[in-house]
Amino acid sequence: MSDKEQLIIFDTTLRDGEQSPGASMTREEKVRIAKALERLRVDVIEAGFPIASPGDFEAVKAVAAGVKDSTICGLTRALDRDIDRAGEALAGAESARIHTFIATSPIHMERKLRMSPDEVVAQAVHAVRRARRYTDDVEFSPEDAGRSERDFLCRILEAVIAAGARTVNIPDTVGYSVPYQFGDLIRTLIERVPNSDKAVFSVHCHNDLGLAAANSLAAVRNGARQVECTINGLGERAGNAALEEIVMAVRTRRDHFDCDTRLDTTQIVPCSRLVSGITGFAVQPNKAIVGANAFAHESGIHQDGVLKSRETYEIMRAQDVGWSENRIVLGKHSGRSAFRARLQDLGVSFASEEDLNAAFARFKDLADKKHEIFDEDLQALVTDTNLDATNERIKLVSLRVCSETGETPKAHLVLAVDGEEKPGISIGGGPVDATFRAIETIVASGTVLKLYSVNAITSGTDAQGEVTVRLEKGGRIINGQGADTDIVIASAKAYINACNKLLLPRERAHPRTGDV
Ligand code: KIV
Ligand code: ZN
Repeated sequence: MSDKEQLIIFDTTLRDGEQSPGASMTREEKVRIAKALERLRVDVIEAGFPIASPGDFEAVKAVAAGVKDSTICGLTRALDRDIDRAGEALAGAESARIHTFIATSPIHMERKLRMSPDEVVAQAVHAVRRARRYTDDVEFSPEDAGRSERDFLCRILEAVIAAGARTVNIPDTVGYSVPYQFGDLIRTLIERVPNSDKAVFSVHCHNDLGLAAANSLAAVRNGARQVECTINGLGERAGNAALEEIVMAVRTRRDHFDCDTRLDTTQIVPCSRLVSGITGFAVQPNKAIVGANAFAHESGIHQDGVLKSRETYEIMRAQDVGWSENRIVLGKHSGRSAFRARLQDLGVSFASEEDLNAAFARFKDLADKKHEIFDEDLQALVTDTNLDATNERIKLVSLRVCSETGETPKAHLVLAVDGEEKPGISIGGGPVDATFRAIETIVASGTVLKLYSVNAITSGTDAQGEVTVRLEKGGRIINGQGADTDIVIASAKAYINACNKLLLPRERAHPRTGDV
């Protein structure tokens, strides 16, 4: 990094991001995303809300055990039982942070907490002190700070810093702020809180008015040195500030910011793809930095300009944020060591020789069908292989689908359920519908299909299709993914993947309800 001050990047994809309805992730998926965030060199990873459910607790614990180069954070309300649970979940972390919060806006204190301002300050101070029993790295957030009174914010921040909070985070919980005013709020707080030099000022902006990134950057201009954000802007309601936008704005407009991050920006696109694949939240094509069109030039004038000099219409280089140039990396004749080495370059390692062998067998199958294998294919294939084979009670053995003009499509398949092969047949409105119905004749999951999406992983008609399905049962939402050059097979894999997750114990409750 340059001689600039460090801007700390605090990623909350696994916590606030997971609060997006439909974005729930399993423990294994969270660990996979956490490792990708570690490769991205994110400073702090908020891994979850340990008190929310046993699943959340285990996920934070697993992330704490598996990630070494980023600080792992657990969220808590300002309650002893939350803090103790977070302390327990984070015990195995190389570097642990506890993030505790309590609401400070008049509307939240009066109507939600039914507490007086004095009681709120006392509880916040107590919570910070208790969290300090577990770690020196304690963060405090006055929830709904964007609608809180400035005098009260100054009072509570001074008190929690004196009690040992090293980071004070100012959340615009409901996305109500506008950049000029939010920047002014941060500057005022830093100026007026007497011990502000003892803590890092952080911001956490929601995107209800589409201003989360702008508000965060206004805060950075006014002295904030930590930004809380998520990959692809995932998060509660309209989401949080998008990590990729904050990081690239600060880097691209270094003339406007006296700080920079330590991130390896070439990991941004792989991370974005991983998060969108796991959550089933597709990235809109015109999304800044990570959208498929973010670096595509359609107009002739633009194309001509870019061909003559890239800078005419491009302010960043696609490869600097991790867009690969669809390089052909491996093919049919590549061996196991080339396969392992290329995956190592992509930051993927295998827990055991069996895992490597399983992935390599899939690679060989794919190479038989697809001439040129790109990095994106390898990533999808490994994502597929990593679906924790131990949790795969249902496996696709074979699938045949008849689909022709004027005829009703029909699917015949065989699934292995706990090792026992079972046949299923169904007709359907289309080949995918017939396949899903045939799976249901065996699995009888009782779910409702909420989302079905297919994306081509690379270009060309032999590209693999990456399918996401979202199933719902009794309010529980499960996403499944599958990839294959045959999109009906990819669809079957995705559906079966979701059914396998459904068979796992329920992992979490929605943290924001507070019903824990
Ligand atoms: O939006 C919010 O206020 C939060 C806090 C818990 C930081 O997510
Ligand atoms: Zn939030």
